[in-house]
This record gives sequence, C-alpha cells and structure tokens, in this order.
Amino acid sequence: MCGIFGYVGKKDPIKICIGGLKQLEYRGYDSAGIAGLYEGQIKSCKEAGKIASLEKKILSEGLKLDFAIGHTRWATHGKPTDQNAHPHFDEKSSLALVHNGIIENFSQLRDQLKSKNVRFTSETDTEVIAQLIGQFYRGDLLDAVQKTLPLLQGSFAIAIIHSNHPGQIVAAARESPLSIGYDDQHTESIVSSDPNAFLPSTSNVMFLRGDEIAQVEAGKISIFNSTLKPIEKKIEKLESNYQAPSKEGFEHFLIKEIYEQSSTIQKALLGRLNDESACIEFENFHFSDEYLKSIRNIWLLGCGTSSHAGWIGTMFFEDLSRVNASVEIASEARYRNPLLASDTLVIAISQSGETADTIAAMREAKRRGCSILGICNVVNSTLSREADSTIFLKAGPEMSVCSTKAFSSQVAVLALFALHIARLKGLSDGEMRKYFAHFRKISGSIQQVLEKSSLLQTIAKKYAKYNDFFFMGRRYMVPTCLEAALKLKEISYVNANGYPAGELKHGPIALICPNFPVVAFCSNDQTLDKIVSNLMEVKARGAPILAFAPEGLHSIIEIADDIFWLPESIDPFAPFASIVAGQLFAYYIAKDRGCDIDQPRNLAKSVTVE
Ligand code: F6R
Repeated sequence: MCGIFGYVGKKDPIKICIGGLKQLEYRGYDSAGIAGLYEGQIKSCKEAGKIASLEKKILSEGLKLDFAIGHTRWATHGKPTDQNAHPHFDEKSSLALVHNGIIENFSQLRDQLKSKNVRFTSETDTEVIAQLIGQFYRGDLLDAVQKTLPLLQGSFAIAIIHSNHPGQIVAAARESPLSIGYDDQHTESIVSSDPNAFLPSTSNVMFLRGDEIAQVEAGKISIFNSTLKPIEKKIEKLESNYQAPSKEGFEHFLIKEIYEQSSTIQKALLGRLNDESACIEFENFHFSDEYLKSIRNIWLLGCGTSSHAGWIGTMFFEDLSRVNASVEIASEARYRNPLLASDTLVIAISQSGETADTIAAMREAKRRGCSILGICNVVNSTLSREADSTIFLKAGPEMSVCSTKAFSSQVAVLALFALHIARLKGLSDGEMRKYFAHFRKISGSIQQVLEKSSLLQTIAKKYAKYNDFFFMGRRYMVPTCLEAALKLKEISYVNANGYPAGELKHGPIALICPNFPVVAFCSNDQTLDKIVSNLMEVKARGAPILAFAPEGLHSIIEIADDIFWLPESIDPFAPFASIVAGQLFAYYIAKDRGCDIDQPRNLAKSVTVE
C-alpha cells in the first residue's frame, strides 16, 4: 500500500506535497514523511502517525525545501515507528527515496549489503533500494536506478531525489501504480501513486509500468525503458472535476457516505434505464450484443466488500440472465489454473481500481484470452485503464476506509448488467419495465432505513457491549450478512462471523450461548420460513437475537429480542435496504465503543500490495 507523492515547480513544495499526501492517506496512515533539497543538502522530516502530526512537526522544525517527495505509509516490513517511516536514505544521506510496494528478496539483498559493511537504520524492505542506488551511484542517478531495478524482486513504485541533482525527481515503477503529470504551461510536474491527487492545473498524465524510469523536472518529463532507451509515452488528458472532500456537517465520512446512498444509487442508474426501448444502456461500452449473447460463463473477481458484491452478482446472473456465474476472491484466483474459455467473461470489481490482487487476477485472465469487464468507482484507475470496458459506479469519492456506498452501487451496476444480458437473450418489454420499477424503488427504500437510523442507534447501544457476533442469512442475504459482519469487524474491532443460516447445524451452533448475539438478515422471501426455523433453534439456546426483517413477518415478533423492520422488496433487490441497516448498526456500535471510524487501525483504503 502506501502513497508516494512528489512536486517540482514554483509553488511551495511542502504545502503541495502535504496536500497531495492527504489525498493519498487512504492508502495508509501508519507514518508520514517528506524530504527535499535545500541549500544543496537533503533535508527531511518524518514520523509515526498521520499526516496531520507530520504537518505540525514540519512547522515546528521550520523545514524549508526547494522541491519535495513525500510518503504516507501502511506498514509491511517493520513496525510503524519514526525510524521505519519513509523517506529512506543511502548511507551518506545524499539521496532520499519513497516507495510503495514490497521487495520480496529484501532480506538477501540486505545481507549482501551488510557483508559490504553497509549500515542500515530501519527494518524496512525499502531501505535496501536506497542503499543499492547509493552503492551504484557514480554521478548519474538514472544509471544507478537502472542498475538497481533488476536486482529487486517484487513490486514497487519509487521516487528518488539526490543532493547532486537539484530540481529533479527520478521515479520508477514495476507493478505498483505511478502516475506522472505536468501542467499545460510546462511549469510544474507531479509524481503520485494516484492521479486523483494531482493539482487541478496538472492535466497531462502518463502512467509508468514494467520497470520504466522517469526523469522529472519542472514541466519536463523524460521516460526511459528498463535499458535506459528513451521512450515516448502516451499522454492522457486528465479530466478533473475535483472537489475537496467534505463531511458536509456529518461527524464522520462514513456516516456521510452511508447517508449518500439514496442518491448514489440514483447516480448508478442515471441514464442507464431507457424507458422507451425497455433496454439498459451503458456509456462508452465496448462489448457487442453478439458477444454478450455468446457468453456461457461469468467469473467475478474482487476482494473484501467488492467480492461480496460479486457474490450477489452471481445470483443476478443465474436468476435474471440465466448464465452460469461464480465469484472468486482475487488473491486466490490469481494463483489458480482455471479453465477459462473465450466464452467466459471476467468481471473485475473494485471501488479503487488499484487493488493489487484484483488487478493481477484480471491480467492473468486476460493473458488466458478472456474479455474483461471492469466495475469500478475511480476513473483513471489501473483497472479501468486495463479492462476491455468499464462500467463506472459514479458514486463520487469514497473517503472512509470502510466501503459503504461503493458496495450498494456495485450491486446496482451488477443488477443492471445482468438485466442487460437478460434483455439481449429475449426478456420481454413488460418484464424489463417491471424491473425498471423495482430499480426506481431502491433509493426510496434506502431512505426509509435512513429515516429510522435513531432506532438503530438505540439498538446498537444495547449490543455494543458484546465482543462476538454471529451474522446469518440465506440466498441474497448470505453475502449481505457477510458484508454487514465485515463492517462491524473493521470499524468496531468486534469479532463477527457471517454464515449461511443453513450451515448453523453443521458446526457453528456449538458457539451459540446467551452472550453470543445472533444478527439475522431475513429479507429473502423464498427462504423466509427456513430462517425463522433457524432462529427458533438459536432462541432455544438462549442467544440474544436481532432480526433485520421484512415488514409483515409476524412470526419473528415472538422470536427476536430486537427487530428492525425493512421495506418489502423482491429478493434480488433486498440487499440494498438490508445492507444500509447493517452499515448503520456497525457505525453506531463503533461510535459507542469510541473507535477511529474513518481510519480504522491497520487498514488502508487501497490495497496495492498482495
Ligand atoms: C471493506 C473494504 C475492503 C475493500 C477491499 C477491496 O470495507 O473497504 O474490503 O472492499 O479492500 O477494495 P477495492 O474495492 O478498492 O478493490
């Protein structure tokens, strides 16, 4: 993970770098640091903790720099200490380096360097890169970097400065994302893990890959391949309608984003339901109707929340489009040897579009000849650039590390795409229009849940004392309850297991006891009686029961200790209101327990290492 950022130009480099790092803080917030040149010498400031505390330290130390590189860290190798914070230096402190990625052979490299009496000051894998470049340096920084890269195994995006090379950042990348941009007037340049952290003026962007090396000066960028042969990179125009993220009066980004869902769902549907033709339309969509009709299998890839959305997607494809579909967690998929034929469509799902495992699994599927559909929130992300076609969520920036609005939009887009295929396979005008009406009810049903959030706050207060929870559901409610359990785990640090309710008797029922609350997601018409029976079994063993139940399920009243009523819905669309209720429940428990809700411990928004 980690975010790297660098600035060369006329503006205050510290201010720009800190601003950029704040945009990248979603990539990790264990420590932060900055380095640059001032009066011919490398100067730096770094410490454990978030960027806000680095900012204070910089002020108190009166740091001045002519240009700068910076880093926000998600710790992989070595604890989140001041010592391990980036930038890292060579022995002579003549160069400073920031890194995103993992150097898998760092320990061998470090031993080799130590045998040459090189002294290390951190436990990081990154420091070996800085030390190696320092060892190779003979006056030509590009040459030293080029000699170092082949020795590294793993993934990296790096930015380096050297005291002998004022006004110059050298950057390189293998699998980790790195974008480099400059303004139209050629006065300034930026290096960043994510182009969305560029200044509004930085509208020309290029992306480094495959050991490419860049020499970055103010408004001037030269790119070289891994043998230092100059290459022309495609320059893309960055469309920026960037607005500084704001909590808009909410206490946390998370609760703001939970509340946004009644409108983000509408944005996911906007312009995509064509009432006249009863067809679904996607903008800039590159798959032909013939191809989509020929698909026999769909393989959905994602991690965490995105994999839960993918799981719901498999049911849409089976129920609505009548196409075989399976979901796989991308970190497993990338190492499988799947039988993928050209009639298999791979759908890569990712909010950020930068998740290393999802991208690796997608690339592997592409290598095996499959077409890739991306479902993504972030425009210009690696996933959206590499997929054959991408349907965007249009949910706006998700600032909270814990994903909420992206999930509901992913599910909505998957439902749209499943129906698009169904239509191509002959679903009638009338049936399509019925679904259109159901789509249009989603926002209202989310709104109904949001309007009762104070009830969930009261319920959450009662349950906040428990340290273990069992979440269960059936059919569409299985991935929904897994997702709700994940929310609780990540923001409240509470153990929450999600299970298909039918599995209860096959082991987990042994856990059920009076201080182990069961949270049941019941909104699946087809299996209502079944989950009610499962809850009877739980009740007989004395566990407190919280039921998220569809209005009208009277039989639950005698069984559950607490009930949160959900608006009625057809089974495939029940996840929307249910998950919003689950998100609110997790939020209020986390709040009651005093957790760091927007930036939970140990997490990062974008998981760019495997
Ligand atoms: C959970 C969460 C993670 C992400 C996962 C994939 O709230 O945010 O589980 O869903 O890291 O991230 P993306 O969707 O960016 O690929």
